[in-house]
Amino acid sequence: MKIISSIQELRDALSIYRKEGKTIGLVPTMGALHSGHASLIDASVSKTDVTVVSVFVNPIQFGKNEDLDKYPRCLDKDAELAEAHGASFIFAPSAQEMYPDGEPETFVRNKPLENQYCGAYRPGHFRGVLTVVAKLFLITLPDFAFFGEKDYQQVFLIEQMVKTLNFPVQIVRCPIIREESGLALSSRNAYLSEEERQNALSIYKGLLAAKAAFAKGERSETKLRNLVIQSILLQRGTVQYVEIVSAKTLEKQVGHLHDEKLVVLVASFFGKTRLIDNMELT
Ligand code: PAJ
Repeated sequence: MKIISSIQELRDALSIYRKEGKTIGLVPTMGALHSGHASLIDASVSKTDVTVVSVFVNPIQFGKNEDLDKYPRCLDKDAELAEAHGASFIFAPSAQEMYPDGEPETFVRNKPLENQYCGAYRPGHFRGVLTVVAKLFLITLPDFAFFGEKDYQQVFLIEQMVKTLNFPVQIVRCPIIREESGLALSSRNAYLSEEERQNALSIYKGLLAAKAAFAKGERSETKLRNLVIQSILLQRGTVQYVEIVSAKTLEKQVGHLHDEKLVVLVASFFGKTRLIDNMELT
């Protein structure tokens, strides 16, 4: 496995494989790799000939008061994990390499959805994500790109971008990987104290309670959301939002729920750590 930090060098290396007719898989990450990321790498390695894992803590998707400076950075460890899972390249550019003129003035945006759910609390976040993912697609020209359903709104917006802008890439969604306890793996779990980590299990428990109630016939949006909210509050978490959305459109569902594919989206805080999770109801 090779670690590359220059855009041109990556393009040159990949063009050789492309000419040989090899397929390329891209796994975009911000590093601090864990088993959730590893599952994306595994999916890419089994579906494509050459897997590129990008490791880039993208400054333009962080708000001013967010954790850009303290976000965990450990490229050596990340390289070990990526190699052990069969990746061919790590692409780890500097911010200077990706944004030589500083904060860009050209962005990819999704007007209706970028300010909803996570976007409502993280202004500029999704345009930062879409812009860097578009750049990574144009740099790598992958046949397939792999994203986790852990970031449900993110993968939805990336699929929309690919469709609208005709990127010649197929997006592969990968299921959420959880600890045995049920906590969804996240690079930000490293910020949690032991007590906060225990309390954060209430997110998964609340989601399971909502799913079980839905299976028993509960169709009240308020009641289902409250099961999740109460579970989190009881364990001293703070709820940022709990919403039930259509999996097809990501539109918020209110009142009596209809039988279509629905997903509960959650964002909450344990201590200062913001955790997101989600679960399909059907
Ligand atoms: P990051 O948070 O590092 O996540 C990289 C990818 O790993 C995303 O597709 C995310 O959904 C997936 N992932 C994270 N935890 C997961 C879990 N527990 N189970 C399954 N997949 C999981 O998301 C980003 O980086 C950035 O926004 C990025 C897309 C790289 C753009 O900068």
